[in-house]
Amino acid sequence: MSTPNGITRRTIEVPAQGAHAAATLVAHTAGRGPLALLLHGYPLDHRMWLEVLRSPLAARRTLVALDQRGHGHSPAPGDAVHSMERFAADAAAVLDAFGAADADVVGLSMGGYVAFALAAAFPQRVRSLVLTNTRAGADGEQARAGRDAAIRTVLEHGRAAIAQAMLGKLLAKDADAVLAARVRTMIEDTPVETIVADLRGLRDRPDRTSLLPQLAMPTLAIAGEHDPITPPAELQAIAAGVPGARCVVVPGAAHLVPMEQPAAFERELAAFWA
Ligand code: MLT
Repeated sequence: MSTPNGITRRTIEVPAQGAHAAATLVAHTAGRGPLALLLHGYPLDHRMWLEVLRSPLAARRTLVALDQRGHGHSPAPGDAVHSMERFAADAAAVLDAFGAADADVVGLSMGGYVAFALAAAFPQRVRSLVLTNTRAGADGEQARAGRDAAIRTVLEHGRAAIAQAMLGKLLAKDADAVLAARVRTMIEDTPVETIVADLRGLRDRPDRTSLLPQLAMPTLAIAGEHDPITPPAELQAIAAGVPGARCVVVPGAAHLVPMEQPAAFERELAAFWA
């Protein structure tokens, strides 16, 4: 289905596997050329990539912004846990559906954890890697307790409470009201069962530090100068660990660089994909 803004929607059916239910995934695409897969953060959806989808990058890549199961237009299939490995297998199914042997993969935060899982399981399918506002390490004890507390919060007080708790950390202090409203809407549109399943998957994800030296594809790490969730040191550590990788710190942004500083983000991707 094509929408008036030139973004096309494609639906992909993924069969049930093990403990994971079958899922219907919706991918939002724009552009032409080799495929670039955009993996959103928690608890967001493809709308965090709208600036990228509408950018001149579309002249150089077929940009595919996936709604992970339970997010955006992809219905929640009822899984208790959304493991990063499950999301990665879904991403691989999307590449299959597009007939793409590989893709330039761009992952933000949770999307970065998924990109690591994809690169670990199917390295030949990741032509290059952009890791933005993410980290390689697993959750420590305190972070795991924080995930359990967030599960209780969303079950007791709903999605608005999650949005309220997260907004101040996702965006830089001087973020404009329209941007903040867009992010709030995305969070409040995410079903409670998705938020709970995501939080369990985030809590239990593996440490990917030992993967870093094995990553042979070109890799770029992008940090937000004021990101309190995944501070620049996390992205600098990723770049230090991956052979040949480099790190860029984007001024004036917090955790959502592609939305907060879209021109800088686009410039970095354009240079990296050159
Ligand atoms: C995200 O933006 O995906 C989350 O903040 C990731 C996390 O909480 O670890």
